[in-house]
Amino acid sequence: MQTDQRDSFGSRFGVIAAAAGSAIGLGNIWRFPYVLGENGGGIFLLIYLILVAMVGIPVMLSEFTIGRSARRNPYGSFRKLAPGKPWYLVGLVGIAAAFMILAFYTVVAGWTLEYLYQAIANGFSGKSSTDINQMFDTFRAGTFRPILWFLIFMLMTSWIVISGIRKGIEKYTKVLMPFLFILILILDIRAITLPGAGEGLKFLFKPDISKISAETILEALGQGFFSLSIGMGTLITYGSYIGNRERLGNTALNVTLADTLIAILAGVAIFPAVFAFHIPPGEGTGLVFKTLPLIFQEMTGGYVFAILFFLLLSIAALTSTISVLEVIVAFFSEELNISRKAATILASLTVGLLGVLAAGSWGWFSQFHILKQSVFGILDFTTANILLPLGGFFIVIFVGWFMGTQKVQMELSNGGSLKAGYLPVFVFLVRYVAPLAIALVFMNGLGWI
Ligand code: PFF
Repeated sequence: MQTDQRDSFGSRFGVIAAAAGSAIGLGNIWRFPYVLGENGGGIFLLIYLILVAMVGIPVMLSEFTIGRSARRNPYGSFRKLAPGKPWYLVGLVGIAAAFMILAFYTVVAGWTLEYLYQAIANGFSGKSSTDINQMFDTFRAGTFRPILWFLIFMLMTSWIVISGIRKGIEKYTKVLMPFLFILILILDIRAITLPGAGEGLKFLFKPDISKISAETILEALGQGFFSLSIGMGTLITYGSYIGNRERLGNTALNVTLADTLIAILAGVAIFPAVFAFHIPPGEGTGLVFKTLPLIFQEMTGGYVFAILFFLLLSIAALTSTISVLEVIVAFFSEELNISRKAATILASLTVGLLGVLAAGSWGWFSQFHILKQSVFGILDFTTANILLPLGGFFIVIFVGWFMGTQKVQMELSNGGSLKAGYLPVFVFLVRYVAPLAIALVFMNGLGWI
């Protein structure tokens, strides 16, 4: 039987570590601060929190529900639960999104390796804030190094995914995630004791209503989807490896809380430094790479902390890249009927080609633009702000309107053995609130209404 042959997670903590490992990553520490910085600060945080509660949690729980009840990759899950209907297209779009995300995300993960290398080589020491700025821009505009680090990161990701769920993904994420948490706390303490920290905290936490715009809301929605790893079937895939006795509702809640907490803690680590060192908060994709080295320089033991931080940032990225690669690998191996190893190699090679173009977005391939955006920009914007919300929309519609309340209830109550008293709220959210919110934000953000 298909179910028996499938690999699975071995423990409750393993499930949470893997799912939180997927959710917590560069999206929290690199993307969240720069998108917040470009979109008005505190007001963005407020909208973000509302959307995570109203839309994020329902989508995440819907994905777990679909995955665990079908026990297949996203495409196969929809085919199994809705035979003969076009729902499988939602799975296919998700798999396309996985290719695109992996290509640009692993490029940034490669930057973290370069910074880890620089930290070890004491490359930040004695540099002024202008030098540090320059250092990042020069590195990113180069040809060889961004590609090299990207390829190394791709190889590490493939290596873990080849080892499977329990012996690969679970084993690594269980150890790596707790470390990250402790490190962020230490950095926060240093950041809030910087002179002028108050300004940064005010920017992060004090909403300024006048800065609200349709685009801010779309960016907040996109960031929520990206950060929670929802809307493309990553959590359908992970859900398909979750045991029948786990409480899906609790898992979704814990993963969302952990993800949100880490994003806020990352903001607390970064914005005081941004303001203390007079870096513009709307600086964009280089924000973290240009601010944190400055904190490390000021810190006692900064040399060690810089190494630890970039090491852990790479690890946070790795626990996310493996989850995205797993989506494609599960799809290839189950639908093409090939081994995990062959599927991983095939997936990595194709993503590798796209990623090399994305890595060149500031260097050798920077002349290439579509709609005024670089390859990297296009991949980032289209996945987070278009494909993921669109996928999330259909996922909640599927669970709310097509899967049948009876079946959803059976899944969430583990076949009737749990109470799952939140069910009516969940059904209301997936039927009405989440789809409506996504549709409105989406059409508004794209200027359709
Ligand atoms: N959630 C990850 C992060 O915040 O870094 C990125 C990500 C992973 C996005 C998996 C989408 C996904 F399916």
